[in-house]
Amino acid sequence: MSKFPLIVFEGIDGSGKTHHINKIKAYLKKKKIKFIILREPGGSKNSEKIRKIILGKKNNFNETTDLFLYMASRSENINLIKKNLRKKAVILDRFVDSTIAYQHYGQNLNLKLINSLNSFLLEGLAITHTFLLTINKKNLFNRINEKRKNRYDSFSDIFYKNVQKGYLKLARKKLNKYSIIDTNLDKSINEKIIIKKVHKIFNK
Ligand code: TYD
Repeated sequence: MSKFPLIVFEGIDGSGKTHHINKIKAYLKKKKIKFIILREPGGSKNSEKIRKIILGKKNNFNETTDLFLYMASRSENINLIKKNLRKKAVILDRFVDSTIAYQHYGQNLNLKLINSLNSFLLEGLAITHTFLLTINKKNLFNRINEKRKNRYDSFSDIFYKNVQKGYLKLARKKLNKYSIIDTNLDKSINEKIIIKKVHKIFNK
């Protein structure tokens, strides 16, 4: 496997991506492996500017405008990702699957359009592995409610259910490229599963 893999974390809001990314960060530091962590929307300087526009509390853009803004933020990131992939491991907090899950499965925007915009932007860039963090129905609503402090307040429970279903569809199509992490399990168990996989990615 790649010496400089591209590892992505996906999952609905509140699924615990940040916790596990921090664990990977500690692991990579310990192993003296060079890495960069970027989030989407955001990452590069320009992309962070776009993030502020998209996620701003006062934003009431329509869904199509949101889609183009997510893509614009990705477009500003892609060179940074490519540049770093030649010398570092790249860890992404959300990437192309977020757009498919949220904008298509959550908001019904056209899948073909999303797929072609993603392939146009990625130009063949390959994701080494994706960790999909899932949560069960009861926890899903509890955790989302805890997080509902921004513009996503207005999104319904059904929306998040559909987003998670969409993510699972994507993962089940390519199980060798995904780890589905059930975050209802003990956190420390999942930490071990994820680190074991990351270790395998670097030592194959
Ligand atoms: P953020 O606060 O970073 O959420 P989290 O910490 O859970 O990742 O907000 C990112 C939001 O943007 C999140 O609700 C998902 C959404 N999003 C999309 O709808 N489409 C996309 O393509 C991306 C990258 C994110």
